[in-house]
Amino acid sequence: MIIAIDGPAASGKGTLARRLANHYGLKHLDTGSLYRAAALTILNAGGDPADEGLAIEAAEQLEFNRFDDDDLRTPGVGDAASIVAAMPRVREIMLRRQRAFAGGPPGAVLDGRDIGTIVCPDADVKLFVTASVDVRARRRYDEALERGQAVQFEEVLDDLKRRDERDTTRAVAPLRPAADAHLLDTSELDIETAFQAAVKLIDGETQTGCDR
Ligand code: C5P
Repeated sequence: MIIAIDGPAASGKGTLARRLANHYGLKHLDTGSLYRAAALTILNAGGDPADEGLAIEAAEQLEFNRFDDDDLRTPGVGDAASIVAAMPRVREIMLRRQRAFAGGPPGAVLDGRDIGTIVCPDADVKLFVTASVDVRARRRYDEALERGQAVQFEEVLDDLKRRDERDTTRAVAPLRPAADAHLLDTSELDIETAFQAAVKLIDGETQTGCDR
């Protein structure tokens, strides 16, 4: 079984994807980490993430397990990741890696921006997870504070808006729900309620004739 989860930053899709993978005994790939790792490689070397040559090289040599989560999760890296992610050749390289991961037993949950539309268009179940930009900014702000990172709420909000704009308007694989995706708005839901809602959708879908 393949479960595709897409949505904007801090919609709750990552936590949901991890919990669903655990619940159904599937592998999990946070595909944003691939773009973040490529961006961080460039930033660590003092390069410009908008330099396509550097971005392609970083994507080709990607070892995303090399970075720890805190380094990948900063707003600066998220912003650089969305610059790198708008480059068609970078996306081609990432596409191969994501499909290689998704194939084979026991199946997988992938979360990102283009999983249901491009990476796994034949996924058994597709979820598009959203939340209002203010709720999402509050979540990211609280997470940053917990990690001890010094951030301003307005900065986090601006960063999310900028990334949403870049991710939804880019020419290649823009962020948008697949036609057959289930929408899940988590603005008013805690993670447990969102998880239960997702399980209900997935169980409903996989029992009603979707037998891939
Ligand atoms: O999900 P996360 O915030 O970690 O993603 C970082 C950036 O990577 C996103 O803003 C987006 O530009 C890019 N991305 C993408 N396609 C994916 C996953 C992430 O373009 N499947």
